Formats: sequence, structure tokens, C-alpha cells
Amino acid sequence: AFAAQDNNYENTIQLIAHRGSSGHAPENTIAAYDLGFEQKADYIEIDIQMTKDGELVSIHDTTIDRTTDGTGSVGDYTLEELRNLDAGSWFDQSFAGEKIPTFEEILDRYRGKIGILIELKSPGLYPGVEQKVANTLIERNMDKPNNHKIVVQSFNHDSVKRFHDLLPSMPVGVLVGYGQADEGKITDEHLEEYAEYADYVNPNKELLDQDTVDRIHQNELKTWPYTVVDQEWVDQLMEYGVDGIITDYPELMDFR
Ligand code: G3P
Ligand code: CA
Repeated sequence: AFAAQDNNYENTIQLIAHRGSSGHAPENTIAAYDLGFEQKADYIEIDIQMTKDGELVSIHDTTIDRTTDGTGSVGDYTLEELRNLDAGSWFDQSFAGEKIPTFEEILDRYRGKIGILIELKSPGLYPGVEQKVANTLIERNMDKPNNHKIVVQSFNHDSVKRFHDLLPSMPVGVLVGYGQADEGKITDEHLEEYAEYADYVNPNKELLDQDTVDRIHQNELKTWPYTVVDQEWVDQLMEYGVDGIITDYPELMDFR
């Protein structure tokens, strides 16, 4: 049963379960999110895309091939078609029957219980996705920053800006991989630009060093690096003083 519980670690380093507790359960399913909650994560990270009929669903790849028993592009299927797929068996037979979750289902299940880090995945493929995400939050009165722990992030920084313009009071983050960095470096120019609209810089952990974390903080930004799967990286990032860690294995932070 899913018991109400408040995993409250506001004053400590934040634990973000990447696609749910995806080291132990099929990513971006209710099974993985529930496990992240049980493992006392502060946030679950969810990847959001849009169906052919304009519904928001959680899946990482832009195709359904890797994580379901179907084949083809997410955006070529209706919600009903996607809901008939098995999103669990690829990981382990014990998860057979897990479905691709809808964004609404995730909000309704976890609101007030655990934070939700929403990634707009490949938003260039889904015109209007920022408005749909905003509307879905507004309908639930979840667009008040101090009311619910909701953060919206994307590798597509124009999309982050669009979302920020729609709901300026909600926290947003820029995801930074090697594709967004300048020859492996997050520069001061980048940080000054991000600071104009964003609250978080969430980079590939390999892009961080002490100086970069310090410069992020000097720009009054927070940083939640991804994706950590071992204790050495947890220790290293803690030493740098990051604000949160995005991990497939929440138990790596059981010391909190
Ligand atoms: O939240 C950061 C991380 O999820 C970004 O990479 O590919 O796992 O969505 P990816
Ligand atoms: Ca993601």
C-alpha cells in the first residue's frame, strides 16, 4: 500500500531518484517512483513527452522500443495505444504489466508526498508542451512554488525559458551535458545567462569541479548533478558542496 509520508530533508543534500529508483525497477514507471519514495528520496525525476493525441506521458527515449514491448516513436501513438504496452518486462519479468504513466497520474499520486523534478524531454518534437505542463499544474493548484516541491528542467534551454515565462514563480533548471557546455566547461557567461531565469544548473557530474560548483553558487544558482551510480561520486560531489544528487540508487545516500 502507498502510505502518506513526508520525506523532509530540506536542510540536507537533496536526493533525487533518477527516473524513479531506476537501478531497481523499470525507469519511469509507478513501480520505480514508489520505490524512490520508499527509499526516502526527496524528489523523483520524471521524463515528460507528448502522445499523438496531445496527452503527457512519462518515458525517456523518443521511441518506445527500449522500454516497452512496442516499436516506433512516442509521438506516433495515442495515449490509449501507449497504455496497452508493457513497460516493465524489459527490466524483469516480475514487473510485467507496468504501464507508461501519465503526467496527471504522477501528479495526483505523489503531490504533497515527494518532490517531482519534471524533465521536458525533446520538447522541440512537441510544440506547446510547456503550456500543457503549465496548465496541468495550474489545474491542480500546483504552480505555487512554496506549496509543492516541483522543479521543471530541460536540456533545451529555450524550452526552459518558455516555461519560465508562462509560470515565472516556479523554479526551473537547465540541464547541461557536454552538448551544452563549452569544450567541457561551464563558463561564467553561461552561468550569468542561466541566472537570469533559472534556479538550478543540473550538469553531467563530469562537468563539475570545485571551482565550477563555487561559481554556480556565486551566481546564486543551485546544482543537482546527474547521474550518480556509485559511492565514490557521492563522496566527491558532497565534498564539492552540491545541493542535490540525481541517482539511480537512492540507497547510496542512506547516511543522511
Ligand atoms: O535529471 C537529469 C537526467 O535525467 C538527464 O539525463 O538522459 O537521464 O534524461 P537523462
Ligand atoms: Ca531525465
